[in-house]
Amino acid sequence: MTLVLIVALLALGLSGHSVVFVPIGGGASTHVGITRTALLQEVTETCQAVAVAAGHDFKPTGSSPEELVQACLGPTATGEVSGAKFHSALQEIYTHSGLVDRDFVNSAPHHFNSEAFLEGRRLITEGVLAIKANIRYQNFKAARETLGRVLHTLQDFYIHSNWVELGYTEPYINLIRPDLPLDNLADVDTATCSDCSRGTCPNPILPNILKEKKLTSGYMGIFSAAKPKGKCSHGGAGDLTGTAVPRGGISKDECRSDNVALHNAAVNAATAASLQLLQDIRFAAGDKDFLRMMGIARSSVVCFVIDTTGSMRDDINEVQAVLHKLIDSKKGTQDEPSEYILVPFNDPEFGPMIRTTDADIMKREISKLTAKGGADPPEMCLSGLQLALTGAPASSHIYVFTDATAKDIELKDTIVALIRTSKSTVTFFITRVLKRRRRSLRAGSFEDYKELALASGGQAIQVSKGQLPQATDIILDTSTSALVTVLQRARNPGKQETFTFMLDESLTYITIYITGTSISFTLTNPAGVSQSHNEASGKLGTIKTAGNLNRIRLNADSQTGAWQIKFNSNHPYTLKVTGQSIITFIYDFVERFEGPHPGYAVLSGRPQAGQPATLMISLIGRKGPSSVSVGAVSLVTVSGPETESHGTATDMGNGDILVTVDAVPEGEFVVSLNGTDKVSNNVFQRQSTTQMSVSKVNIKAVVDSSAEPGKAFELPFSVKTQGSGGKYSITAKNDRDIHMSYPESLTLTAGKYANANLTIKPPASTPSGTAVTLTLEAKSASGVDSNYVVLRISVVTKITDFVPPLCEVVSVLADDCPQAVSQCGPFQWEFLANLTDGNGTGIEKITLQQGNGNLTYTSLSAPSVQAHYRASCCSQIVEITAVDKVGNVGKCYHSIERSAGPPALSLSLPLWLCLLLSALVGRP
Ligand SMILES: *[C@@H]1O[C@H](CO)[C@@H](O)[C@H](O)[C@H]1NC(C)=O
Ligand SMILES: *[C@@H]1O[C@H](CO)[C@@H](O)[C@H](O)[C@H]1NC(C)=O
Repeated sequence: MTLVLIVALLALGLSGHSVVFVPIGGGASTHVGITRTALLQEVTETCQAVAVAAGHDFKPTGSSPEELVQACLGPTATGEVSGAKFHSALQEIYTHSGLVDRDFVNSAPHHFNSEAFLEGRRLITEGVLAIKANIRYQNFKAARETLGRVLHTLQDFYIHSNWVELGYTEPYINLIRPDLPLDNLADVDTATCSDCSRGTCPNPILPNILKEKKLTSGYMGIFSAAKPKGKCSHGGAGDLTGTAVPRGGISKDECRSDNVALHNAAVNAATAASLQLLQDIRFAAGDKDFLRMMGIARSSVVCFVIDTTGSMRDDINEVQAVLHKLIDSKKGTQDEPSEYILVPFNDPEFGPMIRTTDADIMKREISKLTAKGGADPPEMCLSGLQLALTGAPASSHIYVFTDATAKDIELKDTIVALIRTSKSTVTFFITRVLKRRRRSLRAGSFEDYKELALASGGQAIQVSKGQLPQATDIILDTSTSALVTVLQRARNPGKQETFTFMLDESLTYITIYITGTSISFTLTNPAGVSQSHNEASGKLGTIKTAGNLNRIRLNADSQTGAWQIKFNSNHPYTLKVTGQSIITFIYDFVERFEGPHPGYAVLSGRPQAGQPATLMISLIGRKGPSSVSVGAVSLVTVSGPETESHGTATDMGNGDILVTVDAVPEGEFVVSLNGTDKVSNNVFQRQSTTQMSVSKVNIKAVVDSSAEPGKAFELPFSVKTQGSGGKYSITAKNDRDIHMSYPESLTLTAGKYANANLTIKPPASTPSGTAVTLTLEAKSASGVDSNYVVLRISVVTKITDFVPPLCEVVSVLADDCPQAVSQCGPFQWEFLANLTDGNGTGIEKITLQQGNGNLTYTSLSAPSVQAHYRASCCSQIVEITAVDKVGNVGKCYHSIERSAGPPALSLSLPLWLCLLLSALVGRP
């Protein structure tokens, strides 16, 4: 214990960070710690398996997520691979785990409180099936949200029940195996705890409960002290039942000097259980999709939204040629997009959305597009864009090709809401701009495209057909995962202005985009060397112009330090400075919530006006968060006149920084920050691309379960305003065109929530695993105040098959294997098993998870499948999984090792922190 303590103290002292025990996402640091340990370990194991299968070593240079991603993507990763998406995925899971403490604070099953064991397990089972179904349809975001919630509930079993008091150290596998019974639960009349007058006692469980190994959990009462006679309480400040005899509590959420051993045992069991659950999901999903769910991919997703109406007849061939060339130029290279998405739109049809990771399939789909119909533009552009924004992962790059204004302009607010939540950038390529179009009243204008582009950090590029090939270079520039924005500004009208930006050593492929017509500018490097807009090839870089777009690629050896660009123009212009770098940041606007386990929740809509804005920021460095330090963080308006509000930063540990901005700028703003890269000692500057603004309106809505095909799903929501009350219009849109009913307006009283319901009924034919993205908007009669929420509803068929495929070992022929492992070389062993799925849905896939041998099996459509495995005697373990059609995972495991057993779990981080804490607390 003393040794561990010294090591722990040393580790703390050396890291140079103050340890701040502020819970992120609620639920105390315990849930985040357990979830982080389990996720990082399962990802490491998956990366290892993928590396072994691909025949290369997996050697991360350190344990940070950034280094894990670099090593995971293999030895060919010589270019920049960003860890940002992995960080975002982790953060999303932590946050949704924490939200269980806000949205379900009073629900016993979500926390395994009050002996709600069966109901708690049902949440886990249904959640796991929804996750597997979502992954099948590549709805990774919906899968991560549910995963966060399910992990919280699973972990709470160990933290809130008496499992570890009963002496168990391993996870209770029956919680994730709904085909197995939950045995020996204490019934409601059985007393379980002794009275603890001090409030905290080491182990108040009654001796007979311990002896009979009866399972119980603490009762929790937020509003009432009532509990059945003799029952244990959760305990702690938020629980009123803890003051009723038997007093005290058995919750192990916090580590105190009196509960170190039990807290640690619960954390370790919960970590092992989380790992089991993650492995079950990974085996059902397969390694590749599991890593994609975790945001681990070499490059970004590229998405095309293409107008196929008759007026595009002249342009569509050019668009096809350009995109084919572009796809070919990246095919097989390391920054080939990790996925292509295509959404065609016409009038009145749009879609379907086509997604593929195969470049050839995408080329074929693009070739199939023909321009026809829709003789009377404008067209359904925003409907197509809506599909793309909801289908593509967050932070995707979406390119829209069109020659007409949008007929469905009523979707504009929905599109802005989707841009804000997805943080994707939308760039428009608008061809044939000079042709005059008949304008209908309902249709939008090209200005709308410019506004949407700017709101997302993209551009509206107006080009002729002939200029398209030069303009689309911008697509090549963005297909890397490591794209960062250093500075982005827009001026309308234009004016004489000089912009300064900091270029650091980590940046490569630095590119400046300027849109506008008749723009003159001069670029100057830190040494005072200049290049003007009319020098196509100058001392600083090369300038290419196509339509209203100027693209400046700086020379590879560009100087680091403060650069300037001076504009001299009265015409509107936009400026964007980008590059590739591993050093970046992710952010979310958050709000604090209170309760027994307070924390921070990510805002789905715009932050509230009239109060400080809070953001959670994570810096991503070359060697993890400890290799970068943050300087100034501010909110800056993109469109002039420029206002900047500085925030105050609090280090939350693990690279998370809480920023509070007291005076939020009026209008649309972005997040801008600078800091120091400790590896190179360089100052870097980065900014977010998505614009945000504050609102007086607040909408509360929580999706608490999945919907079923053919059944109405009820979503309660509440709307409040701090502005003037009155009639607020309510608008809801979803990306699947499913009918919804809800009140068209609500009458609000200032400062009070008004409640309502929205009902959505997915058609009976909706495939299980579909995610419906729903945008709900409330707007004041004058249109001045509005806000929105974006929600995801998973449609999952009620499943009755919970039985995993069964594995029966038929024979093991290992007699040839020598006693001494060193002589194993020339010898082989064999393993034969029968796999069946009883009355279940049938086996869908069989995978070799461990072992270097050769696995063959008979037809999967037969009721019984024979699996045959043959391996060198040097490869002593075989693990085979069989997955049925709904994702139940059955396993065969066999080892020919002399003393085989699963590897012990290593000491997890929360354990030593707890030891340290309790030692400090316990000191005289
Ligand atoms: C970051 O920017 C602020 C001004 O916004 C400046 O005062 C500060 O020196 C910069 N920090 C670093 C490390 O350069
Ligand atoms: C919403 O629906 C629920 C359940 O059907 C009902 O109890 C509640 O009163 C409804 N709320 C409103 C504001 O209509």
